[in-house]
Amino acid sequence: MIPKFARRLYRRVFPVSREWRQAGAVFADQCAAAPDGPAADGSMGGGSTLEAFFDARVEGPGIWKWRHYFDIYHRHFNPLRQREGLVILEIGIYSGGSLDMWREYFGESATIYGVDIESACRSYERPGTHVLIGDQADRTFWRRAMADGTLPAPDIVIDDGGHTPEQQRVTLEELLPYIRPGGVYVCEDIHGRENAFGAFVSGLADSLNGMERMNSDPANPKRRLVVPTNGVQAAIHSVHLYPYVVVIEKREAPLPELVAPKQGSQWEPFLR
Ligand SMILES: C[S@@+](CC[C@H](N)C(=O)[O-])C[C@H]1O[C@@H](n2cnc3c(N)ncnc32)[C@H](O)[C@@H]1O
Repeated sequence: MIPKFARRLYRRVFPVSREWRQAGAVFADQCAAAPDGPAADGSMGGGSTLEAFFDARVEGPGIWKWRHYFDIYHRHFNPLRQREGLVILEIGIYSGGSLDMWREYFGESATIYGVDIESACRSYERPGTHVLIGDQADRTFWRRAMADGTLPAPDIVIDDGGHTPEQQRVTLEELLPYIRPGGVYVCEDIHGRENAFGAFVSGLADSLNGMERMNSDPANPKRRLVVPTNGVQAAIHSVHLYPYVVVIEKREAPLPELVAPKQGSQWEPFLR
């Protein structure tokens, strides 16, 4: 039996509508813009090791990243740096410099995979750094690579490939299930407010708020409300939105339920 207040909550939460999305966009337009000009040194801070590597790359294989990405990388990748047998996959090799950056950041014990559609990128193959040539929008390419072990399950995926919504979607759909527990998926360069891949991610992230079933046990305050998780809640820890970037973190272990215990002995009588 679902208690009265929870039924009210349901009614409030479920008629999610396009109007609310539009209202959010209107509110966004009202947010004050930053004063003109870049930050003093152009840095967002936080991603210093990576940013320092990037800034020091004045000669040699090129790297092309938005500057604010370094902070995002460090925030989500740093906890994984000490993992044994770390596997990193970057889609989009271009001139090879970002593969060097990941090597420096994750160390010699990490195995790095680069994927690109351009066969010339094979030249960036090194010991511990493998190059796969293929089209990220081709599901068969991913399925074959995963099935025959050419590509082991990655801890980290960075999609910096062709940047079309279709490519981004296929790559996410094909690779997310294979990301190791506690791993991180990053998709870069999601440009434009009405971006189709951005909408796809919003649809996915909406499932984190899912309440398809809910059990209530008034006699047990430790399990006052219990929601058996849906597939997304069970496997995905969080979805993070940044300018032009989405980061998806997977859980260390599947989560079977979300629980709202009640603590304390005095309760206001108006919510029954
Ligand atoms: C933005 S560049 C990568 C930049 C690089 N990661 C860096 O940080 O310097 C994009 C790369 O994606 C590759 N690419 C474009 N479409 C692709 C596709 N469908 N599948 C795989 N790679 C693709 C391009 O050949 C190009 O090398």
